[in-house]
Amino acid sequence: MPNENIILVGFMGTGKSSIGRHVAKRLGFQFLDTDHIITDRAGGVSIAEIFAQRGEPAFRDLETSAIESLFHLRRCVIATGGGAVLREENRRLLRELGFVVGLSAEEEVIFERVSRCDKRPLLHTKDPRGTLHRLLEARRDCYAEAAEFALDTSAIDHAEAADRIVAAARRAFAWEPAA
Ligand code: S3P
Repeated sequence: MPNENIILVGFMGTGKSSIGRHVAKRLGFQFLDTDHIITDRAGGVSIAEIFAQRGEPAFRDLETSAIESLFHLRRCVIATGGGAVLREENRRLLRELGFVVGLSAEEEVIFERVSRCDKRPLLHTKDPRGTLHRLLEARRDCYAEAAEFALDTSAIDHAEAADRIVAAARRAFAWEPAA
């Protein structure tokens, strides 16, 4: 795989951004986040505002074009939004873009993590716990299909998760073993 990018996919709250930053630091790679690219390109408008003003389908189009804009990159760690794997087209693009790591966590752990901040428009419902359950069930197959390497982050810290991802990337890219 010539570009040697590492792509993180997974549901909200599975640690894509925080663990991604650790992995990037460990490898000396640049870290990027598709949600940040989307907000930057929208002139600083937040994801929640994009959902409110333009709707989810428009957000998904911006997400696909953000992914398409990354193909010149190499040696980057790229965290994607939790719904990026929903489109078959995106799953294919992400595989071409790099080594796809799927993060997961137990439902209770995810709920506890996402409850700490309210920036996620899809969970702005009367019953966020039920919504989370339904979304997780509906998306399970997409995450499984997208990922080349799967990691449950429920009970490990960011450093441990980064270690495991770096080891998996080392195998995927056939890097020399660490000295
Ligand atoms: C979404 C996840 C969010 C963000 C948007 C939609 C989703 O990203 O892209 O709110 O559909 O699961 P995080 O997974 O980084 O929270």
